[in-house]
Amino acid sequence: MSKVCLIWVAFAAILGCTSSSRFDELYQPSWAMDHFTYEGELIKMKLDNYSGAGFGSKSKYMFGKVTLQIKLVGGDSAGTVTAFYMSSEGAYHNEFDFEFLGNTTGEPYNVQTNVYVNGVGNREQRLNLWFDPTKDFHSYSILWNQRQVVFLVDETPVRVHSNLEHKGIPYPKDQPMGVYSSIWNADDWATQGGRVKTDWSHAPFIAEYKGFEINGCECPDAVAAVDNMKRCSGGGGEKRFWWDEPVMSELSVHQSHQLLWVRANHMIYDYCKDTTRFPATPVECQHHHH
Ligand SMILES: *[C@@H]1O[C@H](CO)[C@@H](O)[C@H](O)[C@H]1NC(C)=O
Ligand SMILES: *[C@@H]1O[C@H](CO)[C@@H](O)[C@H](O)[C@H]1NC(C)=O
Repeated sequence: MSKVCLIWVAFAAILGCTSSSRFDELYQPSWAMDHFTYEGELIKMKLDNYSGAGFGSKSKYMFGKVTLQIKLVGGDSAGTVTAFYMSSEGAYHNEFDFEFLGNTTGEPYNVQTNVYVNGVGNREQRLNLWFDPTKDFHSYSILWNQRQVVFLVDETPVRVHSNLEHKGIPYPKDQPMGVYSSIWNADDWATQGGRVKTDWSHAPFIAEYKGFEINGCECPDAVAAVDNMKRCSGGGGEKRFWWDEPVMSELSVHQSHQLLWVRANHMIYDYCKDTTRFPATPVECQHHHH
């Protein structure tokens, strides 16, 4: 599969434009290689009482869109967490997380999202989904540009983190990020607040993946950080990448309606509304329209 990554082909900086659907081209196992199975384009990753497993992108990126199609652990998945996230490195790292929290048979998965900026998270939101994520593959995406971070489920936005730098609020846009997924045991907190533990007699717990897509500005290690940054943030003045187009700077009207629908019908927790945890409303919540 190949996609047109650059709108302004005339300014093409082909280096830095990646789009693919092959696991091996984009990713590699980062731990527990013996907990992976490859069935053509389908990758299965398992958690058992010995180990979980994880994979990560071979490259780092600044801006773009990453998508995975995931079929979550079926049946009894209580205590397990399957994560899909982007992260930079270091104590002041940025991170955009999807965490899929398993549940007992027949009970709904919760999807927790979080955003870390300069090493600080505590921006959890939780949703349930409008479908059973263990029955079929569904696409989960993170769109990241200089104006917003959008979390999407089957192309429906479920969360937006906007750039509010003009209000003095830091926004993650200066560190390249890797793309990761993992499955692990988190029965101390994941399911019903940690009350339900992993039942190892139901192991192995298997998450399945396909449709690997990274459509982003690649930041090769061999290139100086300042040059990667310049190239990926359109430092030359031209808007080079489709995600820098004005229409990508905020949700469309249709998408805004979709997000309102998700928030009204599927949101079960929003840190912005948790006055017990945050007696003073977090600054970005005072400005986010959503
Ligand atoms: C893991 O589970 C298997 C099968 O239930 C069991 O035979 C084995 O002893 C367990 N290993 C550990 C380290 O708990
Ligand atoms: C699991 O199911 C229970 C009961 O339906 C629900 O309250 C909870 O939010 C679900 N998800 C998790 C991760 O606990």
